[in-house]
Amino acid sequence: PRRVRTLTLQDFKEQGRKFSMLTSYDALTAAIFDDAGVDVLLVGDSAGNVVLGYEATASISHEAMQLFTGAVARSVTRPLVIADLAFGTYEVSEQQAVASGIDLVRAGAHAVKLEGGVRSASRIRALVDAGIAVCGHIGFTPQSVNQLGGNRVQGRGDEAAERLLADARAVQKAGAFAVVLEMVPAALAERVSAELTIPTIGIGAGAGCDGQVLVWQDMAGLSGFSGRFVKQYAQLRETLGAAAGQYADEVRAGTFPDADHAFD
Ligand code: KIV
Ligand code: NA
Repeated sequence: PRRVRTLTLQDFKEQGRKFSMLTSYDALTAAIFDDAGVDVLLVGDSAGNVVLGYEATASISHEAMQLFTGAVARSVTRPLVIADLAFGTYEVSEQQAVASGIDLVRAGAHAVKLEGGVRSASRIRALVDAGIAVCGHIGFTPQSVNQLGGNRVQGRGDEAAERLLADARAVQKAGAFAVVLEMVPAALAERVSAELTIPTIGIGAGAGCDGQVLVWQDMAGLSGFSGRFVKQYAQLRETLGAAAGQYADEVRAGTFPDADHAFD
């Protein structure tokens, strides 16, 4: 199968073909999602929460992002691999953003993602000028959760909607190839998707976006997180818990290993 590239996503939008993105942070899931036909893999800083156990997504390090990015990039043939710029790796200056972006590309990322619209436009432009493909991320932006006053829908009301539209336009104008819309009212996300020429990728932003993204552990029922915008397509927490419980029971009972699982 042909590799998905940023221009492929542009073609998908023009053809009205919706595309899928899942997070991935390791070699096994990356290969599984590639085989499953997922179009884009996001090495998200959500790894800080679902892999590393931090409460805040902002706690993950740039080094950790490079490590996870390499694991995913080495394990896929078709999907586009986007890596998040960690909190603190692009805010200080355009130079800092470009240096950090280069590290992620060297680690294997095909593109990088950073949060913020108008406020991040100069960083997006600097990365694009350095030859790096950039995905924007507006609406609810987890790295600035404390500034936003918690996990909440963004763009409700006329003024907030205008601000979100301005962010979307700024991201596109700065040269991004796509933009994530997180926790945005469906009607507003549909309007943004119709106005922008670049693809929108929604999470909690309704069906009007050009693509959709979920954190894989949420999608597969492993994290146990079931916010309104999450659909659980499996119950991995139950399945894995039952397997581990049975293994522990059998070891305790002395029934594992049996002769079939031992060497003569
Ligand atoms: O880090 C992440 O998982 C993300 C997606 C939820 C868009 O940024
Ligand atoms: Na993220």
